[in-house]
Amino acid sequence: MRLDVFTLVPHAFAWLTEQRPLAGVLGDELELRLLSYRDYTPLRAGQVDDEPYGGGAGMLLRVDVVAAALDAVYGAQPEHRVIALTPQGRQLTQELVEELAQEPALTLLSSRFEGFDERIVEHLATDAVSIGPYVLSGGELPAMVLLDAVARRLPGALAEGSGELESFSAELGGGLEHPHYTRPADFRGWKVPDVLLSGDHAKIEAWRREHVR
Ligand SMILES: C[S@@+](CC[C@H](N)C(=O)[O-])C[C@H]1O[C@@H](n2cnc3c(N)ncnc32)[C@H](O)[C@@H]1O
Repeated sequence: MRLDVFTLVPHAFAWLTEQRPLAGVLGDELELRLLSYRDYTPLRAGQVDDEPYGGGAGMLLRVDVVAAALDAVYGAQPEHRVIALTPQGRQLTQELVEELAQEPALTLLSSRFEGFDERIVEHLATDAVSIGPYVLSGGELPAMVLLDAVARRLPGALAEGSGELESFSAELGGGLEHPHYTRPADFRGWKVPDVLLSGDHAKIEAWRREHVR
């Protein structure tokens, strides 16, 4: 997959790109580009935002700036999905993550300030996605959330078998994974269920299935 993120803060992604599993698929299953709107703006002095028509607080990311950035990178309107990250978008779910992980290419548009000029969402993006019903200060964290969730579904990102029975997976009917325990087996009288210490794999498997939430 080729995934391009347009942002005002490309360096914000540095930590995430060093972490597994994302780091493990970078340059292989995932080609990631972090692109700054400021590098493509046709306006002077790196301007990317402007005051809202009709007045009101805050500034908006300009449609001509985002269009110029897309034109510069793709030549024309890209043929793949372009996702605007916005609180007004479709809520991100594991189902949507699985869908997006099948795409050969994606572009993420993040904003800051009061958000996007609405024409960006209407005409330049194909999708609008929200990571949840709350407001963050910028689209970088939402982009990282989406990027991480998609990257771990790419081939080779996770050890075999570890991604299939996770919370919200189709295999668990969208439910939540069973509880996990590690040593010590007894801590302050809080005991690990006996069956998990029994070595009986059939019983352990049955216990895990029963405890899917
Ligand atoms: C301060 S927010 C804008 C909030 C907007 N004025 C509103 O009330 O809906 C700035 C930017 O952060 C990003 N953002 C904030 N919360 C988000 C969320 N829950 N999901 C996706 N993106 C979000 C978007 O790119 C948004 O344009």
